[in-house]
Formats: sequence, structure tokens, C-alpha cells
Amino acid sequence: MTYKKELNSLKSPVIIALDVDNLKQAEILVEELKDYVSVFKVGSQLFTSQGPAIIDFIHERGCKVFLDLKFHDIPNTVSSAVGNTVKKGVFMLTVHASGGIEMMRSAYEAAQSQTILLGVTVLTSIDEGILKNDLHISASIKEHVSHLAKMTKIAGLDGVVASSEETKYIRQTCGKDFLIVTPGIRFTDSDKNDQKRTASPAQAINEGADLIVVGRSITKASSPKHTMKMLIKEINE
Ligand code: C5P
Repeated sequence: MTYKKELNSLKSPVIIALDVDNLKQAEILVEELKDYVSVFKVGSQLFTSQGPAIIDFIHERGCKVFLDLKFHDIPNTVSSAVGNTVKKGVFMLTVHASGGIEMMRSAYEAAQSQTILLGVTVLTSIDEGILKNDLHISASIKEHVSHLAKMTKIAGLDGVVASSEETKYIRQTCGKDFLIVTPGIRFTDSDKNDQKRTASPAQAINEGADLIVVGRSITKASSPKHTMKMLIKEINE
């Protein structure tokens, strides 16, 4: 998909991660925030509780869906899953870049340029210790993310999901016409929770992210709408 035109039509560069368990919570957040954001992210938490109907639910409220199920399987299975997702008219979706070029190419072909297709690089909950000790990857996170981003580009995908710490390395490797979506967003004084590689909204945008994914910093705030307004103000300043 040529994503540039699509991005220009969004209300803001913010995607809200609807990491909640029930429809009522999702509905309250969409209704409160839809004047400020165009795209809501449905991940495995909400998808496993509500099923594919959650996609129609968000579309019916005039918003776009980022289906973040991070497919990571053999090429044939990923291809079928991407094909099924595309039929639901989602705006963006993810596969794990670690699935390899053949898997990502299958995803690319199944998507038929009908959706923005992203490769997830190294999860923002992973630090150098986990990468080295648990995953036995000897490269640094920056090197590994740059490598995965390069593979993603070779496979034909539109861009990657990566932390703010790697944005400039991805730009060096993949150029400016490559979409970078950054999660792990935290206000400077807020709790990191399980995230390791975090950045504030303004930092992530200044580093060159095209879009940022914000979950708990907004969804768990006492007033999501008020916090959202502050976030937009921070980005604009
Ligand atoms: O609540 P928080 O802002 O940490 O949520 C981040 C969201 O972004 C979660 O839905 C998580 O699944 C997703 N994500 C991530 N790191 C990645 C890819 C996706 O945190 N590398």
C-alpha cells in the first residue's frame, strides 16, 4: 500500500492500543478518544476476548483498525491469516520479521497492497540481556533491529515496529520512505511496566517515528481524554 497518502488523512500520529478485555471498556475508550485519533490497535488481548467482530465494531464508529496479532508461523499459514485479515478491511497489520523473508513475502503477496503491512522487529519489552541470554542473539539490539528492518524491506513490506532507540539506525538502513511505528511510549514520570526500551511521545516523534502506539499511558489514566489532549499538545510543541 502507498501509505503516505493514508497517513496524511489521520487526525494525529497516535494509535491507541485497546488492550482491554471487554467490549464496554473498548467502547468507552473509542468514544472518548475518536476525536483525537483515527486508528485503534486491536492486539491479542482484545481479539481473543471479542473475536473478529471487534473489527466491525470499531469500523462502525468511523475509525480504522490496526490489527496487531504479530503473525509468526510457516509461510502458508501466515499467508492464509493475512488473506483473511485483509478481507475484514483493516488499515494495518503485523507479522514478526523474525519469521524470515520467505514468510514475509508470503504475507506481502496475500495482502495484495490492500493494507499497510508491518514487520515487528525486537519487542520493546526486550533488552540487551534478554536478547543475548534468552534468545542467544549476539548482535546488539540496534544491529539486530536494523538487520530485521532490512529483511522486512527486501520482502516488500511497508515498514516496521521498533522502539524509538532504533529509529535513526532504521532510517540509515531503509531510507525515509519506510514506515516506522513506535510503541513503548511513556510520559517521563510514568511507570514503565513491562516495557524496557521506552521514549516520551515527543522524543519518539523527534527521533523520526511516523506513528506512535500508546496503550496504558492513556487507557489507564484517570481521564484518558484529558491525558490525550496533553499528549497531542506535547507532540505539537
Ligand atoms: O501499554 P503500552 O503502551 O506499553 O502498550 C504497548 C502496545 O504496543 C501493546 O499493545 C503491545 O502489544 C504493543 N507492542 C509493543 N512492542 C512491540 C510491538 C507491539 O509494546 N515491539
